[in-house]
Amino acid sequence: AGALRGVVALDGPSGTGKTTVARKLAAKLGASYLDTGAMYRIVTLAVLRAGVDPADSAAVATVARKVELTVGTTPHRPLARLGDDDVGVDIRTDRVTAAVSAVSAVPEVRRLLVARQREIIAGELAGGGGIVVEGRDIGTVVAPDAGLKVFLTADPAVRAARRGAQDSAAGRAAAPETVRASVDRRDRLDSTRAASPLRPAEDAVEVDTSELTIDQVLVALCELASRRGLLN
Ligand code: DC
Repeated sequence: AGALRGVVALDGPSGTGKTTVARKLAAKLGASYLDTGAMYRIVTLAVLRAGVDPADSAAVATVARKVELTVGTTPHRPLARLGDDDVGVDIRTDRVTAAVSAVSAVPEVRRLLVARQREIIAGELAGGGGIVVEGRDIGTVVAPDAGLKVFLTADPAVRAARRGAQDSAAGRAAAPETVRASVDRRDRLDSTRAASPLRPAEDAVEVDTSELTIDQVLVALCELASRRGLLN
């Protein structure tokens, strides 16, 4: 495959293989990668470290305005920092995962992070390159002009199983029912919030990954990117 020019927006709920696919696609196409979920997780970690209740929107917004966050754009081991701290591991804990939907539902948090995301994307595109951006609202809000918008889905049972496998690989084993309940809860909160809920853009291509391997998804996405004329 050639090198990517422009933006690929990759949205969908957790457990669809989104992160793995986004990073591999970016690496394969010589593109940058932006994990917008990591940005919401860093703000959530800051909220928890400040002892602020994630349900207190005004206090959450105050923390978000002051947060100094950094995210890297290399597909291999992307960096995540809060102030000077490397928080790549801390932002994946259950505590952060349980609170991130509440924090990301605060309109001020979204306004601040979407602005940052657009700056990062513009910076990457300025040099004529490409970027794969993953999240929940990339095709609908962050990059409505993306050359390719993909919405990944998968059967809820498959998604819970994948999340469980990821958690145990990271040393955070949990009972399957607990994982399923946590995945379901976060999807419900992310899809029903008032501010830019998780939903496919009208012009997004939906790909059901339930029965596909990561490599099969990658092949399908490269094919789509090529047909859109996004590959050099
Ligand atoms: O992709 P993830 O699991 O790391 O995302 C964490 C949370 O951040 C997710 O539950 C909802 C929120 N999020 C969002 O609201 N908008 C995005 N573009 C990305 C993530």
